[in-house]
Amino acid sequence: MAEIFIKNVAKTFGTYQALHDINLTIEDQEFMVLLGASGCGKSTLLRIVAGLETQTTGGVWIGGRRIDNLPPRDRGIAMVFQNYAVFPHLTVFENVGFGLRMQKLPNDEVTKRVTRIARLMHIDQLLGRYSGELSGGQRQRVAVSRALAMEPDVILMDEPLSNLDALLRLEMRAELKGVLAESNTTAIYVTHDQVEAMSLADRISVMHQGKIVQVATPIRLYRNPATEFVAGFIGNPPMNFLSAQSAGIGKWLVAGEMLDGPSTSHAELKFAIRPEDVQLADAGLKATAKIVEPLGAHLLVTCEVDGVMFRAVLDSDLTIRPGDQLILAPQADRVRWFDPKSTLAVH
Ligand SMILES: Nc1ncnc2c1ncn2[C@@H]1O[C@H](COP(=O)(O)OP(=O)(O)O)[C@@H](O)[C@H]1O
Ligand SMILES: [Mg+2]
Repeated sequence: MAEIFIKNVAKTFGTYQALHDINLTIEDQEFMVLLGASGCGKSTLLRIVAGLETQTTGGVWIGGRRIDNLPPRDRGIAMVFQNYAVFPHLTVFENVGFGLRMQKLPNDEVTKRVTRIARLMHIDQLLGRYSGELSGGQRQRVAVSRALAMEPDVILMDEPLSNLDALLRLEMRAELKGVLAESNTTAIYVTHDQVEAMSLADRISVMHQGKIVQVATPIRLYRNPATEFVAGFIGNPPMNFLSAQSAGIGKWLVAGEMLDGPSTSHAELKFAIRPEDVQLADAGLKATAKIVEPLGAHLLVTCEVDGVMFRAVLDSDLTIRPGDQLILAPQADRVRWFDPKSTLAVH
């Protein structure tokens, strides 16, 4: 059992507070992604779990055992970084088997594990080559394979795919997901790429300015963002926001339209809807098309609604030109509302 329990972890560098009171439980065998913009503290948190950085306060437990006072090698953790940490003068076989040799496993066990993981990661044809001769993508496969060959209880990955080109990233993402699903490993994976986060994670922790702002499954994060920040951060193109004025119990005026909404005592709320959750209709928000981008599967139309930019993802068969007046009906069960002061979701 390798549940990871992070309790009240904070970190300051000099006077700069990089992490504020982080509390997070990662279930045994869960794939947890830490997602957030550059500088929000993802790597710092991962490095504290790994033992490469010491927290200012708080503690970390793995499988019920407190590990934050142990040296990195005694934590039962394997790590993969963004830059391919492979030894160029060793063969792929020796690179993948490196940790196993350090553990003094018998030769036939090393061969068995290296061969198995090499097959899963599609580097079995490369086992005899020197790692220095490999492409970036191949080297990163070797680095990931080396970590996985250890069959660690916990694997920590810090943007392991971000140096790869888009196509390779897509391919390796799927392979990594497949291999980890077959293992018993608990994983923490750091990325700033929300698509990668959505595709890999059992759950995502969204980080912002040294804090965790929401922990949820990818689909829950997408459908029920807990704060305005998460709503704007997850999804591409991002969610649309319009201001809403109270017009009686459960009634809200949005861009001159009367819509049903939460029955709260707020005078004002923020109305939010995803670009794909509106459609052309006879009644709804009045929009002026500004930019029309055919994206193949659909049409991305950037409009102006109530003086604010508003994006709609529409059927690619429609003919829409800049300047056209559109009426966009938001799908009622997809609308979200936020308190403009606290920025928290209102139900
Ligand atoms: N060793 C360090 N000394 C001083 N500041 C640091 C150090 N490591 C990280 N920081 C700062 O802490 C913040 C979070 O960094 P980091 O965890 O690397 O962010 P992320 O991985 O999310 O991009 C950044 O502002 C960074 O400059
Ligand atoms: Mg980082």
